[in-house]
Amino acid sequence: MSLLEVLKYPNKRLKEKSKEVKEFIPSIEQLVEEMFKTMYAKNGIGLAAPQVGELIRVIVMDIPIEDPIDPEKHTPDPISLINPKIIHGEGLIQYEEGCLSCPELIIKVDRQKKITVSYQTIEGKSCELKTSGLKAVCIQHEIDHLNGVLLVDRLSDMDRKDYSQHRLKIAKSEKDLVNVL
Ligand code: CO
Repeated sequence: MSLLEVLKYPNKRLKEKSKEVKEFIPSIEQLVEEMFKTMYAKNGIGLAAPQVGELIRVIVMDIPIEDPIDPEKHTPDPISLINPKIIHGEGLIQYEEGCLSCPELIIKVDRQKKITVSYQTIEGKSCELKTSGLKAVCIQHEIDHLNGVLLVDRLSDMDRKDYSQHRLKIAKSEKDLVNVL
């Protein structure tokens, strides 16, 4: 199993809206496995399918659970959500968010503090998840990806222009302009 390439801004695929998964076929399970592997390799806590070029509504995440007695200890908590949809949200929370598709960009984004999300498992079973804090933030960030929304879209016009120029320069030096545009 190989690592997947993570697309970076301004790759146009990242701006597209992903389609719902209707058939729970083995290739979805395979994609989820490869997305987890890629996410761990890049030290990410969440990854959405469009970031690896697949325009379908699939996200993976792993926000380790802190041991209540020993804060140094963490238990992995991998979860994949197919067709995730926020059905309830309340409160306001801000985290400094980064994104594997927007290197070197860290910004605070307003998010809902507590959410209930409906989703399907890779077997196609319908589930609901109530969560809050960083996990809720991460789900909202990844659902943004499924809708073609990136952290850069939250910048002011001027800051976005600066960041775009910076990314284009890097893309040129990496000689992957064809890929990036
Ligand atoms: Co992201």
